Amino acid sequence: MNENQKKKIGILTSGGDCPGLNAVIRAVVKASKLKGWDVYGIPYGTDGFMQIAEGKYHPQDLILTHHGYNLPGVLKGLDVLQFLSGSVLGSLSKGHPENPEIAAKILQGYEMLGLNALIVVGGDGSVDIIYDLAQKGNWNIIAVPKTIDNDVPYTEWSVGFTTAVDIVTQALYDLTFTAASHERVMIVQVMGRDAGHLALHAGIAGGADAIFIPELTPALTPEIIDGCCHHLAELRAQGRKFALIVISEGVKNEDNQKEKYIGDYLEKLIVDKTRSLCVTDPVFCYLNSMDVRAMSLGHLQRSRPPLAMDRLLATAFGIKAVELIEKGKLDRVVIWRGGQVRSLPLKPVIKIIKKCHQENRCAYPVDPDGFIVKTARSLGIYLGENTTTETAVVPQAVEVLV
Ligand code: F6P
Repeated sequence: MNENQKKKIGILTSGGDCPGLNAVIRAVVKASKLKGWDVYGIPYGTDGFMQIAEGKYHPQDLILTHHGYNLPGVLKGLDVLQFLSGSVLGSLSKGHPENPEIAAKILQGYEMLGLNALIVVGGDGSVDIIYDLAQKGNWNIIAVPKTIDNDVPYTEWSVGFTTAVDIVTQALYDLTFTAASHERVMIVQVMGRDAGHLALHAGIAGGADAIFIPELTPALTPEIIDGCCHHLAELRAQGRKFALIVISEGVKNEDNQKEKYIGDYLEKLIVDKTRSLCVTDPVFCYLNSMDVRAMSLGHLQRSRPPLAMDRLLATAFGIKAVELIEKGKLDRVVIWRGGQVRSLPLKPVIKIIKKCHQENRCAYPVDPDGFIVKTARSLGIYLGENTTTETAVVPQAVEVLV
């Protein structure tokens, strides 16, 4: 290979971390090394470019190598990267694109590396921000979707999602036995930002009796709380002495406002409602004696080693990103669809993301008519559905974009 063919590519992770980021990095480095390319690992998202411009990093020190790690004895040379959660590069969850001075520094840092392309491992927010920078700096980018929220349009799976589903499912299993022992209603608040994918998938897999997601329960109205209490009473009548409720953090309170701890808020509503129902209907009185407890799983949902599916997805995405760069198919996003890794032009995908952000709605919400929701309905899970609410489903005609 002559020096002209040798490419210099950058990779950064941006937005909230999730399981599988290191597996993407590993795959990109391995595939690039085989081609004789250099991969520059940009620390802390776009902040890294700023620091390069300020001389805090020397470009040569950022080149990622793949030669295993310095483990002792028989483990010498073992490459553990794909097993580890978090990001070895660090990540940046707050962008600052509006500040022109900062933007100029970032562009300067990018320029100093002389990259042929940049792989951006990020969610819809970070990819949107970096896309704007890329336009200004004439960067070639490939986006790799990652997020436990699974809300990046057009990809059925984002890196990190399936592991997060497993974490929440396992938590529900663990909570089942303490709930049963004390005849309690356990409310589990789950992440997802404005999307209910994580709560819905894990709620079904974890045996939840009620699942509240923003797409079906935008806000906890009195009717929905009433319906939930009747559902709990019915379960009791059937012999169940405990219940599990999953609530996604994107569900709003009675006044249509976000709460930091919407699970705690729901706990109070259920306790108050059953207390008032008990006055006229003794069927609800048991709920007064029965404890209701809310908990938020918080960042535990992001930090377990990636499961096989996430390692596989991350690896396949990383390899595809390198392949696209080699073929000169730039400014694209890799996606998983119909059991295959594919890619789409980034521009129209960003257009959808921007529109949704402007309208303050999720770019890839749960489809209320999709098979996952139907599965939950058919199991008799209470979904607090407010049929009067308009849901925002993004068109999914991938063929148009390919
Ligand atoms: O987007 C991923 C996510 O984990 C969301 O589910 C959650 O709302 C948010 O990030 C939490 O962000 P932070 O790590 O800044 O608290």
